Amino acid sequence: MQNKFFWGNSVSSMQTEGGWNEGGKSLSVYDVQKPAKDLSDWHFANDNFHNFAEDFDLMKDAGMNMYRFQISWSRVVKDGTGAWNEAGIEYYDHFIDELIKRGIEPMICLYHFDMPLYLAEKYNGFLSKETVKAFVRFGKEMVKRFSAKCKWWITFNEQNLYSQPDIAFRIAGYVKGDKTTDELYQIMHNVMTAHAQISNFIHETSDAKIGGMLAYSEVYPASCRPKDVECARQWDEFINFSLLDCFAGQGYSPAMLKLVKTKHIDMKMLPEELKDIADLKNDFLSFSYYASTTVDSTNITEETVPNYFLIKGKKVNPYIDSTEWSWQIDPAGFRNVLNKMYQRYRIPVFPIENGIGVREKWDGENIIEDDYRIKYHKEHIDAMLKAINKDGVEVLGYLGWGLIDILSSGGDMEKRYGLVYVNRGNRDLRDMKRVPKKSYFWFKKVIASGGNDM
Ligand code: BG6
Repeated sequence: MQNKFFWGNSVSSMQTEGGWNEGGKSLSVYDVQKPAKDLSDWHFANDNFHNFAEDFDLMKDAGMNMYRFQISWSRVVKDGTGAWNEAGIEYYDHFIDELIKRGIEPMICLYHFDMPLYLAEKYNGFLSKETVKAFVRFGKEMVKRFSAKCKWWITFNEQNLYSQPDIAFRIAGYVKGDKTTDELYQIMHNVMTAHAQISNFIHETSDAKIGGMLAYSEVYPASCRPKDVECARQWDEFINFSLLDCFAGQGYSPAMLKLVKTKHIDMKMLPEELKDIADLKNDFLSFSYYASTTVDSTNITEETVPNYFLIKGKKVNPYIDSTEWSWQIDPAGFRNVLNKMYQRYRIPVFPIENGIGVREKWDGENIIEDDYRIKYHKEHIDAMLKAINKDGVEVLGYLGWGLIDILSSGGDMEKRYGLVYVNRGNRDLRDMKRVPKKSYFWFKKVIASGGNDM
């Protein structure tokens, strides 16, 4: 294990903060979403905007030494592109100081699906190079303001989701159009360009470290039929390796560039952008990991572009269990992913999201006995320790997702990941009291023992 191994918590702003219309914040696409039946809106989240000191105390008490959070673009820049909102910047400045005071290293994320509403409506989000310009301006300013005290950065949460057509358009702030393959590739490339420009700027102006980040779910072939195996390999190539190759300084994968050429996909790549991507070299490779799945080639034709493979061929793995939300729990896949990233690139790897979403009720008195969560984390930490100790993988730390309950990505407060319960429901905000669950005390022991006592 590293001399300083990071144990901590990881969140996004819209799932955590609340304060949606306070402190000069402008609107993001989330703020105007009407909640679907039995889901929450995005206005209050777990009220971290007003309450972060209590949450930092809990993290410190658990022994955590890193917190990955997001600077909300809409909170610090008017409409994502206008004047700096100094009140918003001041808020994060204080927030960061409070973390550092408690011995918790900040990791800043700059974008987690919450496009400023103005940029979504005016430019269709990251489909436009105008949005790239606005994002890079915002990112560079945050680097100027905070890189002296924040040494760990990521730009995009789960950057490979911008290569997946069922998700990319929504998270890129794309609000109108036909969602074509050309547009998918343009968004993917614009996002990579923005990532490269901000990464290069960090390296030119500071000693801070910046990583690329993927949502790296292991995708197995559904059978040993050669066609299934080929589809699983191509999926990895187009969704994961093509981006990791860029993060590692090698540019886009040859397989992807070849397909773009033969299929005449119009990626709108400019020579100066390719130069920025060629100059990119990230300091660490980070990823979220929750589950794995399989791909079945039966309905995948020769013409199918690999980015669409899971839409046509996703299949349940009969060998592993699922959560209530059908996420298949697979710690062995976690060890695979750690190995795939490190053995190929030899750049330190960092799992910065892991955890299990479960519906839980608190009776107002007794501790929540979340043994299922302890089991989940234990098996995944164990898989990580095997990657470190048996496979020689260099791992920087382990951050759990939403360890103080937050809204799920769909806005469901009842899908909880926390070691700490937050007393609110989807429509009933109650008192938002923080109540440690059994897993909190277990995780504290794990951290104190450096992973030895599980
Ligand atoms: C990750 C996202 O993909 O998964 C988070 O970065 C999300 O935003 C997390 O919350 C867990 O997913 P969900 O849908 O269960 O909240």
